[in-house]
Amino acid sequence: MNDRDKPGHDAVSWPGPIPTGGMNGTRKVHVKSYGCQMNVYDSHRMADMLAPAGYAETARLEDADLIILNTCHIREKASEKIYSELGRIRDLKRDAARTGRRITVAVAGCVAQAEGKEIIRRAQAVDLVVGSQNYHRLPELLARTARGERVVDTEFPVEDKFDLLAAPARDAIRARGVSAFVTVQEGCDKFCTFCVVPYTRGTEVSRSVAAIVAEVERLAAAGVREVTLIGQNVNAYHGAGAQGRPATLAHLLHRVAEIPGIARLRYTTSHPRDVDDTLIAAHRELPSLMPHLHLPVQSGSDRILAAMNRRHTRADYLAIVARLRAARPDIAFSSDFIVGFPGESEEDFRATLALVDEVGLAGAYSFAFSPRLGTPAAVMPDQVPKAVKTERVRILQAAVARSQAAFNAQFLGRTFDVLFEKPGRLPGQIVGRSPYLQPIPVMAPRALIGEVAAVTVTEIGTSMFGTLAQATPVAAASRVPELAPILTPIHAQAGG
Ligand code: SAM
Ligand code: SF4
Ligand code: F3S
Repeated sequence: MNDRDKPGHDAVSWPGPIPTGGMNGTRKVHVKSYGCQMNVYDSHRMADMLAPAGYAETARLEDADLIILNTCHIREKASEKIYSELGRIRDLKRDAARTGRRITVAVAGCVAQAEGKEIIRRAQAVDLVVGSQNYHRLPELLARTARGERVVDTEFPVEDKFDLLAAPARDAIRARGVSAFVTVQEGCDKFCTFCVVPYTRGTEVSRSVAAIVAEVERLAAAGVREVTLIGQNVNAYHGAGAQGRPATLAHLLHRVAEIPGIARLRYTTSHPRDVDDTLIAAHRELPSLMPHLHLPVQSGSDRILAAMNRRHTRADYLAIVARLRAARPDIAFSSDFIVGFPGESEEDFRATLALVDEVGLAGAYSFAFSPRLGTPAAVMPDQVPKAVKTERVRILQAAVARSQAAFNAQFLGRTFDVLFEKPGRLPGQIVGRSPYLQPIPVMAPRALIGEVAAVTVTEIGTSMFGTLAQATPVAAASRVPELAPILTPIHAQAGG
C-alpha cells in the first residue's frame, strides 16, 4: 500500500519550504508529522497559523528556529519514537545556544494530548506542549515561551479551532500539490477496546457542510484536483447542512463533487458500522468518487471482533463489501488488521488470514497488538507473546502481499485514468496516481501535472510503469475525467 494511505505510521516532513504570507519571514519553522492523515492536515494548518506571524517553513530541522513534532500515540513504538527524536533535538538546541541562537521546541498531536505535563518533565528540550484542539492558539502560546515560560495547553477548548485557524495562502496550497486532505470530522465515539483515539482526540465532532465547501473551493481555486475528506471515523460525519439539519457523509460528497475543478474525491477512514445506504449509493452515483475504499476490519474472527468491541461480525463486513461491489463493480478494498489481540488463538488468526483472499484485498496494513495504557485491552487476560505476534504479522503481510500482487497484475496492458502529481526521478518523467492510489511514473510533459489523462500500464514489478494512452495533447487531457468502466470486478480477478 501507499504511505499516503498509511494509518498512524511513518513520519512525514515537509516537501520543501513554502513562502511565508507574513512580515519579513526571517524565522523558520520545521513541522514533522507522525501518524495519520489528520496529523498531516493539522501540520499544514499549524504552518498556516504561523505564516502571518512571520514564520517560513523549512524542510531542514537543523535550520529551524521553531521545531514542532506533531506526534502519534497509536502504538507504543510511535510514542517512544518521539522521545528519541527529542534527545537529538536537545543536542541541537544546546549547540545552537552556544552560538547565541534560540530554538523553540513544541510537541503537538496525540502524545501531547495523552501525556501533557509528563513530556515537559521527561524532555528538558521541550518549551511547549499543545493538544490537537488548541492549534489556533499557537501564536499566543509561543509568545509565552518567548518570555521563558514552559507551557502546556491540552484542555479541550470551548471555542472551535476551525473557526479560528488561519486559511492557507494560495502559494502554500500550490506548494503542497494537487491532492489535498480536508478534515471534516474529528474524534471517535466507538471505543474499540485497543484504541487510544477516543481519549486523545475526544468525542466525535463534525464541521459544517458550508465550512468544508468553502475550504475545498479555496483549494480548487489554487489548483487542487483531488480531495480526500478525512476523519478518525469519517463516515460517522453528521455536520450541519441545509437549514442546520445534520448531513450525512454521502450528502457532503455530493456537494463537494459539484465544486468546479475537483476531479477526484476520496474519504478515509471509515468504520464498517457507519457504512449506510446513502454512502453505498454515492459510490454508484458519483463518478468522481474513486473506486477505492480503505475499510479497516481488524480481525476475521467473530470472537475477537466482539472482544475488540467492533460491533460488527465477519459476515457483516463481507455483506458491506458485497453491497459496495454491487453498487460500483470496479471498487477495490484495503484494510487494517491487528494480530495478537489478547486471547487470539491459531484458529482466530486463520480466520483473519482467510479474509484477505475472501475479500481479494488490494492492500492492507497489519499491526501487532500494542497494549496502550488506559485502554481495556491492555489489561485483558491471555496476552499473546511477542514472538507469536511477530510471526503472525509476518504471515499476514505475506498473504496481503500476494493478494495485492494479484490485484495489481490485472492492470497489465490495460488503461486507466491517472492524476499527475509531480516530476519523476528521471528527466522527462512525471508521476501520477491511478484511481486505486497506485503510483505510476510516465514519460510525459510536465505541463500534465495537475491533469487527468489516460495511461496504459506497460510494466508491473515492484513498481508500476505506463505510457500515455495516446499522444495526449496537454489541452485535451480531461480536467474532469470520465471514468470509463474499464475494469472487471476485482474480487473475481484478485480473489481467485
Ligand atoms: N478509525 C479507524 C478504524 O476504525 O479502524 C482507524 C484508527 S487507527 C488511527 C489506525 C489503525 O491503527 C487501526 O485501524 C488499527 O489497525 C491500528 N491500531 C489502533 N490501535 C492499535 C493498537 N493498540 N495496537 C496495534 N494497532 C493498533
Ligand atoms: Fe479507534 Fe475504533 Fe475509533 Fe477507529 S473506530 S479510531 S479503531 S476507537
Ligand atoms: Fe496517531 Fe492520533 Fe492519528 S494517535 S493515528 S495521530 S489520531
